[in-house]
Order: sequence, then structure tokens, then C-alpha cells
Amino acid sequence: MKIVVKKDYQELSREAAEIVKKRIQAKPDIVLGLPTGSTPLGLYKELARAYKKEELDFSQVSSFNLDEYFGLEASHPQSYHFYMEKNFFSLVNIRKENVFIPDGKTSDLENHCQCYEEKIKERGGIDLQILGIGRNGHIGFNEPGSSFNSRTRLVRLAQETIEDNSRFFKSLADVPTRAITMGLATIMESKDCLLLASGQARSERISRALKGPVSPDFPGSILQKHRNLTVILDKEAASFL
Ligand code: GLP
Repeated sequence: MKIVVKKDYQELSREAAEIVKKRIQAKPDIVLGLPTGSTPLGLYKELARAYKKEELDFSQVSSFNLDEYFGLEASHPQSYHFYMEKNFFSLVNIRKENVFIPDGKTSDLENHCQCYEEKIKERGGIDLQILGIGRNGHIGFNEPGSSFNSRTRLVRLAQETIEDNSRFFKSLADVPTRAITMGLATIMESKDCLLLASGQARSERISRALKGPVSPDFPGSILQKHRNLTVILDKEAASFL
């Protein structure tokens, strides 16, 4: 495990973008695993900036998002489809046919989840999985109790996740209670993994994930067993380590 500590959120985002940039330049048809949440916003901004400056070409890049709320249309402003389009995909030249996000409105759940896993395999697996981490240690939407063998599936969101994510919705009652997420086994199969965390509020979860017992009680702890994990933190997020 490699841990990099940067001064602040901006520096962290730049460092993460540098890593992603180098990887795309080395392998133009790279397969990325992408997160949502507040943490990767700076990274997406930096990548879009690099594209604008013609330092990056996404025309051969494929991406698989970690998760999507169950029941939300892609056009819903709080869906992860919407988030990705707004904050990243519309700003770079990635091709629609190379973008994959679980469909929160699928009518054939089992088949959809299985196909998602198959598509990842067809593209040669995820080269670089980028992650944030939730308060209860969730990665993607793998909540406490998720099996280390889990694959893409429908999950029920933990109460603390619903509360935390309600900041993006009109009210607590509007937050979906279920989601489709890649599993922990899916995430662990990625060749490289980049975990990002910023701010004091995320320091405790980072210390539990990186130094606590490896247990489904705190799903992010499984990353201690990843073959190639890089963690980029700002000073505040690293303060418990
Ligand atoms: C959501 C996403 C996670 C993300 C988490 C943390 O619940 N499903 O993939 O890591 O939020 O988000 P933030 O970056 O806002 O702390």
C-alpha cells in the first residue's frame, strides 16, 4: 500500500489527476472504475482541464461506474448518471458506447447485474479503480455486512448512508433506500486501486479502513488486501493515521 499525503483538497485532486493522466497516456484504451460523491469532483475537474489543454484523449477509454440508485431515472438530477454526465463525461471526449453505469430502472435486475460483470470482463477487467469511502466504511454502495465475495447486485442502503446522502435531495424521504453496486470482489479484481479522501470528517474512516481489522463490518478495510492500492489524502484526512 502506498499512502500519499498532500497539503489540501486541491493538491490531492491534482495528484490523483496526474496519476490517472499518466495511466491514460501509457494505455489509451484503459478501463477505469469511477466513483461519485464529493471527493472525486476535483479530480474530474482536473481531468477535464487536461483534456481541454489537449494533454489527454479519452476516445479509447472505457469506464464502469461503481453504483447507481435503484429506482432513479438517468435524467434524475440526483442519479449518478446525471452526476457523471454533468461533472465529467460531457466535459471530455469519452464515447457513449464506452461508458457503463448500472441502470437504476432496469426491469431485469439479475440479468442486468450479471451482464455488468460480463462487460467488465469483456473489456479485459478494470485497470484502475478510483474510490471514495463512506462514513460507515462503504465503498461503492457495499454497506457493512457485505460479503467479500459480493458481485454487482441490488443492495439496501444503511440508515447512515441515507442520512449522509440526503444533503443532495430535497428531504430524507426522497433518498432512495436501495442501489445497484459493484461488489467487493468486483472492486478487488481491479489491477490498481486509487482511494481518495479529504478533510477531518473522513480521517477516522480512513484510519479504520487502512489500519483497523479487515472485516465486512467495515467494508473499506478489505482494501488492505488489494494487490496495488494507492491512497491519496490531504493532511486532515491523514490526521488519524
Ligand atoms: C456515496 C457513493 C460512494 C462514495 C461515498 C462517499 O455514497 N456511493 O461511492 O464513496 O458516497 O462520498 P463522499 O466523497 O461525498 O464522501
